Amino acid sequence: MTVTARAMGEVIDRIDGPDKVRGVARYAFEQPLDHPAYLYPVQSTIARGRIIGIDCRSASSTPGVLMVLNQYNAPRTNIPAGQGELNILQSDRVAFRNQFVAGVIAETSEIARHAASLVRLEYQEEPHDVELHGDRDDFWVPSAASAQFPMELDKGDVDAVLTSAPVRLDRVYTTARQYHNPLEPHTTAALWSEDGLTLYVSTQGVSGIRDVVTALFGLDPGRVRVVSSNVGGAFGSKVHANPDVVLTLLAARMVPNRPVKFALTRQQMFSQAGYRPPTVQRLQIGAERDGRIMAFSHSSTSATSKLVEYAEHCTRPTATIYAAPNLRTRQLVTSLDVPTPCIMRAPGDCPGMFAIECAMDELAVECGIDPIELRIRNEPEIHPASGLPFSSRNLIGCLQEGAQRFDWEHRDPKPRARNELGWLVGTGVAASTYHALQQSGSMATIRADPDGRYTVLIAAADMGTGTWTALTQVAADALGVPVGSVDLRIGDTAYPNASSAGGSSGIASWGAVICEAAGQLRDRLGRGGSIPRQGLEVTARMPENRYASQYALHSFGAQFAEVRVNAETGEVRVPRLLGVFAAGRIVNPKTARSQLLGGMTMGLSMALHEEGVLDPRFGHVVNQDLATYHVSSNADVGDVEVHCLDEDDPYVNPMGTKGVGELGIVGTAAAIANAVYHATGVRIRDLPITLDKLVAW
Ligand code: MOS
Repeated sequence: MTVTARAMGEVIDRIDGPDKVRGVARYAFEQPLDHPAYLYPVQSTIARGRIIGIDCRSASSTPGVLMVLNQYNAPRTNIPAGQGELNILQSDRVAFRNQFVAGVIAETSEIARHAASLVRLEYQEEPHDVELHGDRDDFWVPSAASAQFPMELDKGDVDAVLTSAPVRLDRVYTTARQYHNPLEPHTTAALWSEDGLTLYVSTQGVSGIRDVVTALFGLDPGRVRVVSSNVGGAFGSKVHANPDVVLTLLAARMVPNRPVKFALTRQQMFSQAGYRPPTVQRLQIGAERDGRIMAFSHSSTSATSKLVEYAEHCTRPTATIYAAPNLRTRQLVTSLDVPTPCIMRAPGDCPGMFAIECAMDELAVECGIDPIELRIRNEPEIHPASGLPFSSRNLIGCLQEGAQRFDWEHRDPKPRARNELGWLVGTGVAASTYHALQQSGSMATIRADPDGRYTVLIAAADMGTGTWTALTQVAADALGVPVGSVDLRIGDTAYPNASSAGGSSGIASWGAVICEAAGQLRDRLGRGGSIPRQGLEVTARMPENRYASQYALHSFGAQFAEVRVNAETGEVRVPRLLGVFAAGRIVNPKTARSQLLGGMTMGLSMALHEEGVLDPRFGHVVNQDLATYHVSSNADVGDVEVHCLDEDDPYVNPMGTKGVGELGIVGTAAAIANAVYHATGVRIRDLPITLDKLVAW
């Protein structure tokens, strides 16, 4: 093979784009299944207690209703360890308001929905507890299983330094309850027949869904097929099976040979699809007058449900980002009678870096130092916790490149110095970081055919990020053939097992195993000459990255924001955002830019708009729709510029890539909050920055 492909680094339009634009790309709910039945759930109206009676008579006798599923007649399931939220219709306990407590299967979705409204439940209600306060006394340290990093870190004598340091800072920051809100809701279509179970589901990982389903129902993995061809966004909410998948399977079990379809409504997504839980974080910093950090303490609390222990691990980036000879992190969680939260775009790191980067801005003000210079002075030589060298670290490069592009040099550091016709103008900066993760366990098959075409099979998923395109480029590059010669097949458990699209690990993980398979194929072709008439197929296992234990693997970035705050009304506008990132080798500058730009836009949304408001009397989120839960729209987004530094990292994986799906949302909210301070002189430590917090000047 002598073709030079140069597929990596090329701008290539989305391979899946034309089909999506023409409306022929199939999503889970649109699978043309024969004569489907439809499911609609009944949700609890109490936040805590027991179901003591259920009256299904009126629903069951409605014409077109096939069955009303409830705790008495639903098939029994096993519950995989740590996944209590999948305990659907298995007991009389109610753990949060809007939990699934019954389901109607009917000929049409309209009939199912109407009949569901006729189901009557009787409860024995118990007092509920749904509010997170930092001063609760029932926090605990989450079990190690909930994350891959220490929940408590102690280096040096933090308390002694905090009380004696020349500059001391002690602040509390809070972030709001935020929802993923992908365009495509969570959807499932299931067919249970003699041949086994076929499942079309909108997911970030088909192999993971298959594993949960086989465990729940005690099935042979060979009899379960999960297909997820196209996914209309996820942001973490579709990385695991959710209750809607289980409810669909219970229904499909009851109507064998009949497909069952279920799509959550937008309102239902606010209780069934996870969310980023609110956090309360305390930052204490002791520093020299020149800004050098002497001691850094970060404690974070969040709340989970009574069903699953999920901790929003805000203290994960703390040990990575700045040099601190004395360092302490504390991660705490409590449980409430609320829906189960889950990972959401840069879980932990995103709200954590909001607090850290606002505190750094406050420290810069205290010390009278430029915030970029402050960060440069606190750049670590090696990873402050593990002591490992960084495989590559270009935070300073990002800050300096960004400063130049943003004309930081001419910024007047004085707050409230610019008033342009009633609008106070300010600028702010914050750092970004995310771990460069690789998940193990994936496999891939590559088939070469004598006509020069290559088929790559792997049960990966494209949740809308551009995986189809970027992974095709990785494969073409590894094979040394043009992109047009590669047919990538993903999103189906019929292909070799693969890790999920989570933790920005997709390309790094699936790409590594594809490179391995391509290498083996090229070796065999190299030895044997041309491709045999019957073709040649190679299946490889994901190789282990031996550098993962020798280097600290992270991506970095710097974000700059310009804000305009109306001096009378407190209205905040963000005319300009700039993100400069160092994320290893960029596979496709177009799709990578889209990911980073999307992350920054979501960060803007987090800074100014997103907040699920919980009614403590009932325990549900009242603004459970897109009319009242405000997500930034086009009118809210100004110029967003994304720039990636060239970064050559031979240690992260064979491609030298770092994930870009999550990095972009880390730091945006802090850059905006810091710009709001610069514009107004008012420090807002509680997200979102709504105008009511700014009008009381
Ligand atoms: Mo991402 S929140 O790990 O899907």
